[in-house]
Amino acid sequence: MTVTVKDELLQKIKGRSGTVGVIGMGYVGLPLAVEFAKGGFHVIGFDVSDRVVKTLMRGESHIQDVPNEDVAKLVKSGNLIATTDASELRKADAVSIAVPTPLVKTRDPDMSYVLAAAQTVAENAHPGLLIVLESTTYPGTTRELLQPRLEELGLVVGKDVFLAFSPERVDPGNPVYHTKNTPKVVGGITPACSEMAAALYATVIDTVVPVSSPEAAELTKLLENTFRSVNIGLVNEMAIMCDKLGVDVWEVIEAAGTKPFGFMKFTPGPGIGGHCIPLDPHYLAWKMRTLNYKTRFIDLASEINSEMPAYVVEKVARGLNQDRKAVNGSRVLVMGIAYKRDIDDVRESPALDVIRLLEEQGAEVVFHDPYIRTFREDGHVRNGIEKLTKEEVQKADAVVIVTDHRNVDYQFLMDNATLIIDSRNVTSKLRQTHARVVTLAAVPRGD
Ligand SMILES: NC(=O)c1ccc[n+]([C@@H]2O[C@H](COP(=O)([O-])OP(=O)(O)OC[C@H]3O[C@@H](n4cnc5c(N)ncnc54)[C@H](O)[C@@H]3O)[C@@H](O)[C@H]2O)c1
Repeated sequence: MTVTVKDELLQKIKGRSGTVGVIGMGYVGLPLAVEFAKGGFHVIGFDVSDRVVKTLMRGESHIQDVPNEDVAKLVKSGNLIATTDASELRKADAVSIAVPTPLVKTRDPDMSYVLAAAQTVAENAHPGLLIVLESTTYPGTTRELLQPRLEELGLVVGKDVFLAFSPERVDPGNPVYHTKNTPKVVGGITPACSEMAAALYATVIDTVVPVSSPEAAELTKLLENTFRSVNIGLVNEMAIMCDKLGVDVWEVIEAAGTKPFGFMKFTPGPGIGGHCIPLDPHYLAWKMRTLNYKTRFIDLASEINSEMPAYVVEKVARGLNQDRKAVNGSRVLVMGIAYKRDIDDVRESPALDVIRLLEEQGAEVVFHDPYIRTFREDGHVRNGIEKLTKEEVQKADAVVIVTDHRNVDYQFLMDNATLIIDSRNVTSKLRQTHARVVTLAAVPRGD
């Protein structure tokens, strides 16, 4: 009986004796690499960033959800190495690609990172290699961009090499769900490709969900994130409507949330951020534009969500106005600049828009974020207030709560601030002491 490359690869996967390469060691790639290394595989993490590679090889993690000890242990045992040398990937039996998929200024997909990674794979490919794209992208990417690069080498996909898409669902800061216990969808170019990808992920991930094609897997991710964007857009608009109606939107959402079926709770806020929800739906919108179809839900949700920072700033202006103050010349303390609670990531954060809009109107803006002391935007480094003292809070004409980190003492703000614009409703259950609180929707508190 002849042993095929597929049989050999399957044996290496099941016996965990194979080598797994991960291209891109960021928020997605590093946790995945760590999971494979913990599962007993030899893992090669390839990244173009010298800084990332050096940090990892020192045994340190640059990703908040991945503990230093895990990296240190796995680097020491030799299960995990990080490198900027792409030729190391020749040793890999399977390669997962987790490089960025941002948008260009015109909101079209920036495929340059995926194309560069595809080139790296092609330069180091060999018969018996499994390639899985994990970067969020438009339906058709795996088949249209990756498959031809492999076929140019004379490799037959599904026979000599195996190609699949598997969306990453990592939720930074989530204390319950992480790489291992989040079900993983996989869709291969051929049934053999799906089988190999499913076999690989099943070694380290609790539940693997095979679908019939890479396009179905690519669209699964886009549906998930479009669903979030649209529902967040809906509650944000509900907040604006409640403001006009004089109704507390939070009370309405809480009450609707008591329905045990057919309703899912989303909460309004200052806008959306991060690498996924503000960007991913545009990948689908772009693809559909090429087919002369306009994605109305995606466009409307994006419009509403991206207007929320301006809505927050309008609330600041109105709040200051009540104190006979103008935004121009006022000192505004922005609380939290991460795009969501309990994480240290400012990418696409609505706080950056809030700060920019306030400064455009002449406010003197300072910020405090327990997770972010300093950040860089458009080449400028901005330093936050390290310690939130009584004086700092009292000095501010307005305090704007943008990110609802759990380790902030909001009662302290209530006791010392004059005016709080609470875009996350963190103050509703606190003692209404000193501060006058303005929420996104009507109902001033503490007057
Ligand atoms: N961060 C999340 O929460 C999240 C969740 C689900 C899906 N995703 C998707 O996963 C993908 C990766 O996102 P991320 O957040 O991990 O990005 P990231 O910026 O944290 O990490 C990407 C890494 O890739 C490296 N890189 C860039 N080009 C490279 C190349 N050609 N070869 C090797 N390394 C390269 C960068 O130096 C960086 O370290 C994106 O498509 C994103 O949409 C992200």
